Amino acid sequence: MRKKIAAANWKMNLTWQQGNELVQSLLGATPSMQDTHQVILSVPFPYLASVSSMTKGTSGYQVAAQNCHHLAAGAYTGEVSAGMLASIGIPYCLVGHSERREYNGETNAVLADKLVRCIENSIRPIFCCGEPLAIRDQGQQNEYVARQLQESLFVLSAEQVGQAVIAYEPIWAIGTGRTASSEQAQAMHLHIRQVLEVHYGQQLAGQIPILYGGSVKASNADELFACPDVDGALVGGASLVASEFTAIVNALCKS
Ligand code: PGA
Repeated sequence: MRKKIAAANWKMNLTWQQGNELVQSLLGATPSMQDTHQVILSVPFPYLASVSSMTKGTSGYQVAAQNCHHLAAGAYTGEVSAGMLASIGIPYCLVGHSERREYNGETNAVLADKLVRCIENSIRPIFCCGEPLAIRDQGQQNEYVARQLQESLFVLSAEQVGQAVIAYEPIWAIGTGRTASSEQAQAMHLHIRQVLEVHYGQQLAGQIPILYGGSVKASNADELFACPDVDGALVGGASLVASEFTAIVNALCKS
């Protein structure tokens, strides 16, 4: 059975004092997690080690980096490698968030390299994909997302891809308050699973968690989590508010 995951993405928000308080609140409020359910906190680099040690004793909690460099090491001032993350015990890393694609020019080819760096270092990549509004308006979203998978994720072998998590985040729904309907989410998640199945086979395709992201909040989590191919959420804005994110985790645990 594939895991159900509520992943927070803090992006470039919160001071350490605010982040610390948020983690304490979550740890105090969220229910004890079964093996099948997981909370992943994607926090800024300077907070990774602290959040990691704060959550260590709580089952079901993991941390993720929000990015890593596509090369192993070298003269790249200001960058962080997958090997560095692994050396401090970070188990997950977001790869290909649409904000990094847009503001940092990350191409499908660069993201393929990042996926390989993660796997080489035993870090599970959370591979983000999703179409812009213009593509959705043309009805080309299935082809667009399939290409993102083909040009990046498919660099991984069948053995490696089992380590990955996929997050489908339509760009028009990120931070806009406009969530995809549960029908739109389910249709795309099923499409992604079918694309995976053609390349990796039915068994693997059935094992990979596919999260939905884009304006997920307490009020729409139940409906999204009720979709058979939606295995959880990647949550931005609502993950910064303890009561909202706790409600999302509760919805996940009930699903
Ligand atoms: P949002 O962000 O929940 O604020 O829309 C989601 C994301 O970018 O991961």
